[in-house]
Amino acid sequence: MATLKSLSFSHIILVVFMAIVVNATDEEDRKVHIVYMGALNPDQDGYSPSSQHLSILQQVLEGSSATESLVRSYKRSFNGFAAKLNERERQKLARMDGVVSVFPSRTLQLHTTRSWNFMGLTAATKRQLNAESDVIVGVFDTGIWPESESFSDKGFGPPPKKWKGTCNGGTNFTCNNKLIGARVYTEIEETARDREGHGTHTASTAAGNRVVGVSFYGMARGNARGGVPSARIAVYKVCSYIGCVEEDILSAFDDAIADGVDIISLSLGHSAAAELSADSLAIGTFHAMAKGILTSSSAGNFGPERGSTSSVAPWMFSVAASSIDRQIIDRLVLGDGTQLVGRSVNSFGSRRRSKVDLVYGTTASTLCDFTSVRRCSYGCLDRRLVKGKIVLCDKVSLGAEPMRAGALGVLMIDRVFNDVALTYPLPAVLLSSENGEKLKLYLNSTRNPQAKILKSEAIHDSSAPVVASFSSRGPSVIIPDIIKPDISAPGVNILAAFSPIASPSNDDGDTRSVEYSILSGTSMACPHVTGSAAYVKSFHPDWSPAALKSALMTTARRMSAVKNEDTVFAYGSGHIDPVKAKNPGLVYDAHKENYIEMLCNMGYDSRKVRLISGDNSSCPKARTGEAKDLNYPSMGRYVPDLKPFKTNFTRTVTNVGFPNSTYKAKVTSSGPEMKISVEPSVLSFKALNEKKSFVVTVSVGELSLKHPAVFGSLVWSDGIHRVRSPIAIYSDLPTN
Ligand SMILES: *[C@@H]1O[C@H](CO)[C@@H](O)[C@H](O)[C@H]1NC(C)=O
Ligand SMILES: *[C@@H]1O[C@H](CO)[C@@H](O)[C@H](O)[C@H]1NC(C)=O
Ligand SMILES: *[C@@H]1O[C@H](CO)[C@@H](O)[C@H](O)[C@H]1NC(C)=O
Ligand SMILES: *[C@@H]1O[C@H](CO)[C@@H](O)[C@H](O)[C@H]1NC(C)=O
Ligand SMILES: *[C@@H]1O[C@H](CO)[C@@H](O)[C@H](O)[C@H]1NC(C)=O
Repeated sequence: MATLKSLSFSHIILVVFMAIVVNATDEEDRKVHIVYMGALNPDQDGYSPSSQHLSILQQVLEGSSATESLVRSYKRSFNGFAAKLNERERQKLARMDGVVSVFPSRTLQLHTTRSWNFMGLTAATKRQLNAESDVIVGVFDTGIWPESESFSDKGFGPPPKKWKGTCNGGTNFTCNNKLIGARVYTEIEETARDREGHGTHTASTAAGNRVVGVSFYGMARGNARGGVPSARIAVYKVCSYIGCVEEDILSAFDDAIADGVDIISLSLGHSAAAELSADSLAIGTFHAMAKGILTSSSAGNFGPERGSTSSVAPWMFSVAASSIDRQIIDRLVLGDGTQLVGRSVNSFGSRRRSKVDLVYGTTASTLCDFTSVRRCSYGCLDRRLVKGKIVLCDKVSLGAEPMRAGALGVLMIDRVFNDVALTYPLPAVLLSSENGEKLKLYLNSTRNPQAKILKSEAIHDSSAPVVASFSSRGPSVIIPDIIKPDISAPGVNILAAFSPIASPSNDDGDTRSVEYSILSGTSMACPHVTGSAAYVKSFHPDWSPAALKSALMTTARRMSAVKNEDTVFAYGSGHIDPVKAKNPGLVYDAHKENYIEMLCNMGYDSRKVRLISGDNSSCPKARTGEAKDLNYPSMGRYVPDLKPFKTNFTRTVTNVGFPNSTYKAKVTSSGPEMKISVEPSVLSFKALNEKKSFVVTVSVGELSLKHPAVFGSLVWSDGIHRVRSPIAIYSDLPTN
């Protein structure tokens, strides 16, 4: 009996093991690819894309069934599918009629660095409540916590009539008249319920209700409020703890566009800019734009390196993260009474009144080499040497190792995050290099070093807004003549709704459960722009995505070029000001055909343009201009060499201010080597929606390696409105 049992047991192990081996080689051969087949053809009656997808697959597959290979079908807003393919199958498919492109599906990352706070329009701001309640914000993220007070539907009527979506969030997930839709794409989690906290946070920042008196353990206390508290939310769960898979994101675009959302919030992205024709985000957002839907997208958290933003398509609204006037700081009190100020969001009061022993990682291990130990690397700290003590590490970490080893607190010397406070599973302080040195001196000066970490406090920061170090920078290595990012919004220490089953520090050992938490990242900046765009749209429901974007860019507040070394490539047109944006005076409008023309002017041929548009768009024989000539609300020009030169920008503005108005141009430049002229320099309008064109000519003396860029601006003003566009001419494009 026993033998039999163990025999069958080992047999099972063998079978399972073999199955895994077979799967592994299978997996290696076949990877999920996205097969893009372009726009839907509305004329074909009774056309069924899914059966077409299966029949196409059957023609190329070698020894795998089509139903097994097919992962997703896109058929509501554009045509295509995702399927597991090997290299030969991929090549065959790419050559087939009707197939626009085939590219591997990648896994993208959420744009948070973890951390926390909140802004919004003031409660007294004028709103169009009826129109606002017709706005539907689509959030592509980790799901949502439906029971959060931020999403309660008290006072909400039924969803707007245009809504064609559904509530399909899995078991024990109910929508209401505020949270009107949910769809799940992640295979790993079959519920729209948010286990990470990220999606709850971004959704409530964009469109959450006003909830009074919330805080993270008393910190950042205030009223949480989204940009458009009366708007509706539809959730598209495309991310889980492993990241966000491209084939899922495209499915969400396919659905959200057909469901009738007005604005899409996309706090995720690639780690590096991708060629537009192979970028699922560029393709999905292009279809959204063609249907009148603006997508706000986080610039990325790969700053401060230049050229690090991955959100580069001109039809996307690319958002940088900046600080607000509330900073969160920590105080470390040493045994000799010295106080050192550092960072982290530390909700832990000092559990003991008195100070505890302080040890340097180097003296707290018998297990690892010196370098690993001073960094408190995983598995290096000796429990008996650190238990009940505060440990100093020379590297920033998430605090997992000191937590594991039973330390009471951790001090880290931080050369990376000099402007953001993260949340840790235990009391923690990030110290600057300078304070780190002071601390080491103290350690050397006494035989019995001790310290105490106080609970974090909020202080006023008069230097705000400053773009965060982690916020991805332009210029765009893909389209150097379109300034990216477009705009800056609060993304440091943002307090918003959270999932009570998620760990506020992202550490499994952290058992705190909170309904509101503080996070940082361009992920947090993006929904501020989503909410602002929704707010402007509630006043102008018929405006195009480009008009909404223009209104927000041309009214953005100027940011300091002194405090932001990368100037427009850090903050774009400046800091978002939604109240000004609802009445911009003039807008720089653009539509699908203008973006197609820009792609042609970038050197794309018709074939390559169709890789994005998916329709029969084509390029004229001769170029009509250059990428810089797209009717964009900012003006950028990359010049590869340093010789003196002259360039111009042709633009058209649409009057959305007073019917009868006269605008005068005013230019500024960063120095005498840059001359800007505008022709004509006066625009007189007689009617609303009247369009007027003008040409901005910029001549620049020699640029040098030391002085590789010049900046200026154009402001159109009628005495009431100020319509501002930054101008950048530069020769220092980073290499990809
Ligand atoms: C549904 O989810 C909520 C929130 O997690 C929980 O409190 C409740 O018990 C769940 N109900 C069922 C039937 O699982
Ligand atoms: C502390 O003492 C160690 C060993 O004596 C020495 O290497 C180190 O430079 C000292 N650190 C400071 C900050 O003085
Ligand atoms: C492109 O397709 C549209 C609609 O399918 C059609 O009306 C148009 O004539 C086509 N254009 C070209 C250049 O083929
Ligand atoms: C703009 O510059 C281009 C290229 O230098 C030139 O051909 C064109 O005439 C200029 N347009 C205007 C209106 O000055
Ligand atoms: C526009 O301005 C002109 C000249 O000042 C004036 O005669 C006319 O009445 C104005 N029209 C409107 C609609 O305000």
